This record gives sequence, C-alpha cells and structure tokens, in this order.
Amino acid sequence: MQATETITDERRWAALYPDLGTGPVSVEPCISESFFALERERIFRRAWLNVGRESDVPHPGDHFVKDLPVASTSVLVVRGTDGVIRAFHNVCSHRCNKLVMEASGSCRSFVCRFHGWVYGTDGSLLTVTDEQMFFDIDKAANGLTPVACEIAHGFIFVKLDPGRGESLRDYLGESYRKLVGYPFDAMPTRFSWHAEVRCNWKLLVDSVQDIYHGIFLHQRSTYRQDELSGLAGQRSPQRPFAVELYDPHRWFSFPRTSQRHHLYGAAGRPVALPPGVNPTRNENWAWDGHMIFPNLAILVGSTFWITMTAWPLEVDRSLFEMSMYYPEAENAGQRFYQEFGKCTLRDITLEDLSVCEATQSVLASGARTHFNLQDQEIVIRHGHKVVRDWVGA
Ligand code: FES
Ligand SMILES: [Fe+2]
Repeated sequence: MQATETITDERRWAALYPDLGTGPVSVEPCISESFFALERERIFRRAWLNVGRESDVPHPGDHFVKDLPVASTSVLVVRGTDGVIRAFHNVCSHRCNKLVMEASGSCRSFVCRFHGWVYGTDGSLLTVTDEQMFFDIDKAANGLTPVACEIAHGFIFVKLDPGRGESLRDYLGESYRKLVGYPFDAMPTRFSWHAEVRCNWKLLVDSVQDIYHGIFLHQRSTYRQDELSGLAGQRSPQRPFAVELYDPHRWFSFPRTSQRHHLYGAAGRPVALPPGVNPTRNENWAWDGHMIFPNLAILVGSTFWITMTAWPLEVDRSLFEMSMYYPEAENAGQRFYQEFGKCTLRDITLEDLSVCEATQSVLASGARTHFNLQDQEIVIRHGHKVVRDWVGA
C-alpha cells in the first residue's frame, strides 16, 4: 500500500489506508513474554538488520562485532584482505567460544584465545593447533559460519535466517529508491549515544515515529516560549506533509514547526537533495523519516542525518542506539551549532526515553488493554500491524 497526499484538517490518512482500520491497538505485544519469544524467532532472525556502516570498516582487515542477544548470537563484520565485506557468527568452530571479544579492530587473521585456532578475514579456518590429535578434522568445512550480509547506501545489513532469499534491495523496496542519491558520505562528522532503556523495543520505535507529541513533550527543549502560547492543549502543529506506508516499512516528511528548526541550516552547507528526499519540495520541510522494519529509523535532512535503532534485550528492556551526522564544519559557527544541535538532540531523546520507561512501568497494570491512536499516529498503527503480521498473531 502506498499513497502520498498533503494532509489537511479535512483529509485523513486513515481514509487512504482503509485496511488498517481505526480501532484501538492491543498493548499485549509490548508486555507478553510469549509474544516476545515469537518476535525473536519470526522477526529478528528473519529480517534484514542494520549493524553498521561501510565506513566503519574502511580498510582490509577492519572489523567490528555486533552482539545480537535478541538472536542469541554475536556477529563479526569484517572487510577481507580482498576488500569484500562479510559477516559471520562470531563463534569459534572448535568449542564455540566467542571468537572476537573487542568491539572493533583491524587484523590480518583472527586467533581464538581459547585454544589458538586461526581464521582468515574471509572466514576460512587456517590453523588448527595440535591438528594431529584431531580425528580427520576437515578444515574446509569448519570455517566461520557465514551470515547473509548486503549493503545499501553504505548501510551494512545482516540476515540470520538463511531460509529467506530476498535481497536487501528488494526488502528495502521503496525505502531504498527514495534514498538513491542522498549524499550520506558528504556528512561524515558523527556523534553517537546509546542507552539501555527499561521498555519494550516497540515503544522506542513508536517514540521515534510519533509526530503528535513534539509540541507537548518537547516544549522546553524544542520550542521558544513565545511559540508555545496558544498552541499547547489545542492542536499539534506537527503534522507530516506526506506519509507512505509500504509493508513492512514506512516513510513520512516532517515540517519545521519551531524557529529552532531553522537553525538546522547553521550546521553546515546544505547538500543537494535527490528527488526522493523532500519529494513534495515543501519549503517548510525539515527532514524525512524512514522507518526500516523492524528496528531502524533513518532521518535525512539537508544539513544532517540521524539513525536510531532499538534492539530488544528482554520483553521490557531494550538497547537504544543513536548516531547523528553532520557535514565537516567549515567555520567555528558551524562547529558551534553542531555541538548545540548534538546537545539538543540528546536532551530531546532523554525526554523520549523517559516517557518510554514510564509507559512500560504501568503497561502491565491491566488498567488499559489498548492504545487509542489518532489519525496522525497511523505510522504507529502500521508498525504494530506489521509486527503482528510477521509474528503471525
Ligand atoms: S574454542 Fe576456539 S580454539 Fe578452542
Ligand atoms: Fe520525541
């Protein structure tokens, strides 16, 4: 399903996506242990998952480790001496020790510290120590276990279940096409945070794609006092220009709603935008949000881009990761604004995460069994539907 329309008070997104309905949405998938077990199996083992950027491994031998407790594994991503980026389960073939312990590094081969087996950067098993004591061990059959690994727009994705053969580009579909030509690498200055949050991972995803809350939750961090008078309590001025729902992903185009948003331009020289970014060419545009199923958000603007990822740990505990990217600052003013923007985003995010924790803390009370979603929350409605579809609930 897909539609691009400019919203007015008269036009409703729900009318464009009648299949989604307008009824309340159950809270059960955010508190149920059994639902969480199914999500682990049917979503996080089957979906393409973003684990890093190509620029994280610029040189042959560069590697990083991404622990994925949601899939009971750790993944090693390495650029081989042949220049190819590959991913493997980070598990030694001898007695299954976690092979690489450090978060990142660079090397010509990997040595297991337990009994010294050696692997090449292409995953091949090179050395079995005391090999003559083994029983016809077949080195060719005992390399590192590969994990499907593909790259789109510089984002490295892995997929743990080899059973589903869909390519990354086919999986990303319209999300991939909209981002063609967006100059991610022209904005290389990166700030990163992560936080363990006591809430279900879907509350974090919902928080990122929630357009309704900005004027209320973020009034101090985002709005000037004079902008607030007459707004709060009446209507949210934060409504997207455009929304597109394309299973399993979704996209929306977000307006500047505060004078502070106009400061975005101070962060650096704006990049040229391809046709798929701000496609309505609205002058009051701030950024586009791509919600890549299941757990990645990519926000793209003209002087910054941001990624946010929600990794499930337990049904009520998650890891939230965020990175913000700017152009190289050309002067002290831009450098100052980048620092200001970084701190502002951190403050805004803390407000979001604290609401997620507060919500989770009462979600299992039984006081309410459903969320009541309004029309502007259709992206949240869509997200929950896609999760239920993949889980088969
Ligand atoms: S577990 Fe790795 S060498 Fe023994
Ligand atoms: Fe927020």
